[in-house]
Amino acid sequence: MNIKIAPSILSADFSKLGEEVALLERCGADLIHCDVMDGNFVPPITFGAQTVRAIRPHTRLPLDCHLMTLYPETHIEDFVKAGADIISVHVEACGENTPAVLQTIQSRGVKACAVLNPETGAEALFPAMEIADMVLVMSVHPGWGGQKFIAESLEKIRALRARAVKIGRPDFDIEVDGGITGENVKEVIAAGANVIVAGSAIFSSSDKKATISRMRG
Ligand code: DX5
Ligand code: ZN
Repeated sequence: MNIKIAPSILSADFSKLGEEVALLERCGADLIHCDVMDGNFVPPITFGAQTVRAIRPHTRLPLDCHLMTLYPETHIEDFVKAGADIISVHVEACGENTPAVLQTIQSRGVKACAVLNPETGAEALFPAMEIADMVLVMSVHPGWGGQKFIAESLEKIRALRARAVKIGRPDFDIEVDGGITGENVKEVIAAGANVIVAGSAIFSSSDKKATISRMRG
């Protein structure tokens, strides 16, 4: 499968986000992962659609907007207008409306992704997989960068890849987010993930280009 690396700007220097995303593009990133937190679904507040609009002119890469918010459906229009290419919503926030929320995102010409927290079982994503363009497995508790990878996530990734094969979508994009390093990325890919989010591993590295290309394998 085609492996894509999605650096998370949560670990970037927020005083110069435009330069940071342009640098990530030059270093070979495939997507820019934007962690939107509302202080309710998760305790911290990061940024919203206005920041996504501000970085949009600084890169041609797809902007992968991970909404860690309550009522994510109320924010879709703002992120679409800001230039998001992918909008990810949590099944824990949307509940049984998840398929409908994904369809709303797609109806605006943007890719839709359903996200799973570490406490939620893989099967909670199965209905969404009939519709979604991608699913995202959180391999840490959402809210903060720099946490340790939760090893049980590997089993969940395997279950989702098996489900993708079963429903006739073997190339389905499975994204994994949290605690991924140059050391554990191989296991994550071997389990069936193909879109890799990494914040601290990329931003703490003195050679982002080498780190990104090594992660891609
Ligand atoms: C956590 C965010 C992640 C985070 C990943 O809530 O969704 O995208 O930035 O950071 P690292 O790679 O440092 O775990
Ligand atoms: Zn994220």
